Amino acid sequence: RTVYLADYRPWSHLVDRVELCFRLAPKGTKVAAKLHMRPNPAARGRHVLRLDGEGLRLITLKLDGALLDLTPDETGLTVPADLLPECPFLLETEVAIDPETNTALEGLYMSRGMYCTQCEAEGFRKITFYPDRPDVMARFHVRIESDLPVLLSNGNPTASGEGWAEWDDPWPKPAYLFALVAGDLVAHRGGFTTRSGRSVDLAVWVRPGDEDRCAWAMDSLIRSMKWDEEVYGREYDLDVFNIVAVDDFNMGAMENKGLNIFNSKYVLASPESATDDDFARIEAIIAHEYFHNWTGNRITCRDWFQLCLKEGLTVFRDQQFSGDMRSHAVKRIEDVAVLRARQFREDQGPLAHPVRPESFVEINNFYTATVYEKGAELIRMLKTLVGDEGYAKALNLYFSRHDGEAATIEDWLKVFGDATGRDLTQFALWYSEAGTPRLKVAEAWQDGSYTLTFTQETPPSPGQPVKAPKVIPIAVGLLNPNGDEVLPTTVLEMTGATQSFRFDGLAARPVPSILRGFSAPVVLERETSADERAFLLAHDTDLFNRCEAGRSLAREMLIAGLTGGEDLLPAWRDALARLIRDDTLDPAFRALALRLPSEDDIAQALHQRGHTPDPAAIHAARRAAGDALAQALAADLPGMIAGLGAGRFAPDAAGAGRRALRNAALALLARVDGGAAAQSAFAAADNMTDQTGALAALLDIGQGAAELARFRDEWGHDANVMDKWLSLQVALAAPDRAAAQAETLAADPGFDWRNPNRFRAVFGALSGHHAGFHQAGGAGYRLLADWLLRLDPLNPQTAARLSTAFETWPRYDAARRDLIRAELERILGQPGLSRDLAEMAGRMIAAA
Ligand code: ARG
Ligand code: ZN
Repeated sequence: RTVYLADYRPWSHLVDRVELCFRLAPKGTKVAAKLHMRPNPAARGRHVLRLDGEGLRLITLKLDGALLDLTPDETGLTVPADLLPECPFLLETEVAIDPETNTALEGLYMSRGMYCTQCEAEGFRKITFYPDRPDVMARFHVRIESDLPVLLSNGNPTASGEGWAEWDDPWPKPAYLFALVAGDLVAHRGGFTTRSGRSVDLAVWVRPGDEDRCAWAMDSLIRSMKWDEEVYGREYDLDVFNIVAVDDFNMGAMENKGLNIFNSKYVLASPESATDDDFARIEAIIAHEYFHNWTGNRITCRDWFQLCLKEGLTVFRDQQFSGDMRSHAVKRIEDVAVLRARQFREDQGPLAHPVRPESFVEINNFYTATVYEKGAELIRMLKTLVGDEGYAKALNLYFSRHDGEAATIEDWLKVFGDATGRDLTQFALWYSEAGTPRLKVAEAWQDGSYTLTFTQETPPSPGQPVKAPKVIPIAVGLLNPNGDEVLPTTVLEMTGATQSFRFDGLAARPVPSILRGFSAPVVLERETSADERAFLLAHDTDLFNRCEAGRSLAREMLIAGLTGGEDLLPAWRDALARLIRDDTLDPAFRALALRLPSEDDIAQALHQRGHTPDPAAIHAARRAAGDALAQALAADLPGMIAGLGAGRFAPDAAGAGRRALRNAALALLARVDGGAAAQSAFAAADNMTDQTGALAALLDIGQGAAELARFRDEWGHDANVMDKWLSLQVALAAPDRAAAQAETLAADPGFDWRNPNRFRAVFGALSGHHAGFHQAGGAGYRLLADWLLRLDPLNPQTAARLSTAFETWPRYDAARRDLIRAELERILGQPGLSRDLAEMAGRMIAAA
């Protein structure tokens, strides 16, 4: 089945109220549902009643108290129109389901003795017969019967007794926001009083033993609640807010109304067990899910094509929050790195799709970097174009106009049009056209007048051969040759295919700083000298572009080396060494500037310029550059490491920045001291950031066997921590060893490959190891395909997600392309392949 945006129709009926009763059992959980319904006046005429339902054993079906004898089909249940009253009626069902055997982790399932649910996008249909679509919003009342001590659902608790509990959610919601949890759990409690005086009981629920790792999640939640009041004027709307940590979870987390469910990896943190990156990610995801309460729950999506309406906006909001909590420049540099690594990659391959897709086979395949991360970039551009005040007015209008509704991207853009008077017709193309625009720049200088001429072009993508020019906000600044800024950041609005902007009255030819803060998700193609990049690395006032100058200098150096160009290594090495020694610069910023472009980024850039990337050569060139920098800085590194050292761990941005720079320095030093410093750093580490930092520095130079063993002794009991141990060994293996390393780890009888975190730890690391995954001969490809085929029958969603490792195949040489095609064909030929993986493999191969 393919579903099309163009086919949207309102549902035939409205659901006013839902009463659910769960009698929980690992096998044969009984779900009784009472649906209070009436015909939808917006869907004129008489209609059949079609309810979604998959894998449900129907026990009874009643309409207004009378038994109906109807048999469901594979995907649901149809009540013929002539049986249905034209006034309000009550439909009652009872079904049985088996949470214990639900390995797909969608619907109601069990994770280590605990019951939990994941309903987005279409999991509720695996719980009961229901119109499982986001535009059907209803009030839910839930009763849970079970011997387990903690029984949770959405909304407020209304009553409970021995073996049962009842919950009532006053806010109408779509079924995908339903949640239920039952287990032997303990709470880390907190509280928050909203600005209008509502006092909210907060709890983070975890397994006994994990209580001492919840404080950071709670702290992040309280800061999120406060921030959303202060910055967006959004208040919480229930008496309780519960977060539950679950070990088996396909995604990061889920924003179920009043009952957020999290992958335990994004809740649990202590200095000993979590890195600075973990702390930052937990803070961001807690905020993200909390912010969904308004952008997603109070205002939801009309249909799944509008997914970016809630996800793009909520990602943008969590990015703003993290920037406010930490450093905006550092956050932006990190977010853009992820955008390029995942979204640009996706946008340039066979899986490219618009931020708002127009068709899908399996909606779970569209929870992508494009919908989320590019979706957030579109919100950022809108804000840049209408200004902070216009954005605030538009958002207020959005919340007041659409509260309680299931909205569309058209509604969203209309709010901006109405609030600011701006015509957003052209801007809407960003939502409908896939592909990353290329932006070329030409300069002219004459008599004190400087002209920038931009040309934009978006390459074709599947199903979209021709693209129209987009509105591109280009933030620029101009610097004098002495380093002074002569034009502070100014936003140029490009709307045509080619457009010039002139700056008059300048005393000297300026150096331009273009696309400051990464003001638009485009590939900037500007040919310029290494000297100019080094100049911007030293002088740009925009920290994003300053870092970008270093990154582009490194990229050009590596590409020149790989394609027989000029030797830029000395220029890059000297510019970087100067920057690293500059103690006036934020350590976090210096650590970021030290990062070389990833091997995948280099392959992407080579392909864009018409070269065929050679993974082994890229790996070698990148290592050689690291070695050269290490040698240049050898004398400075020990002092730097000592100077940035220790103090008590606190998960704040400043401390994290110092540790990041220190660990980057340690990795460089390992290249020249044989690992001595990293060994003692590992022995002395009192927090996970330093422990994994030192371990990584050792593995990177082919050492660390003793440290790996010690790590396992210390953390063997903690699966989430051991995932780091697994990943690092694969990620840092020599290219010709990576696949074998993954295979060995996965063959360990203790390796629980059915758990998505474990599977990703090994096979996500393998696909992220560019030279290892693309090793000539195809061992990496074969191993991944074998394991995807093994996982698919149990957990299609996670198998499909990891298959994106193959999406970059068009970049490579004929031999590698043939090897990948063979694996994709093998996957597609598998009998009983899931819809999820079939769609992904099919889309990837269609472009072959
Ligand atoms: N809405 C969740 C979030 O963004 C993600 C749910 C993903 N679900 C899925 N089936 N892919 O936080
Ligand atoms: Zn989300």
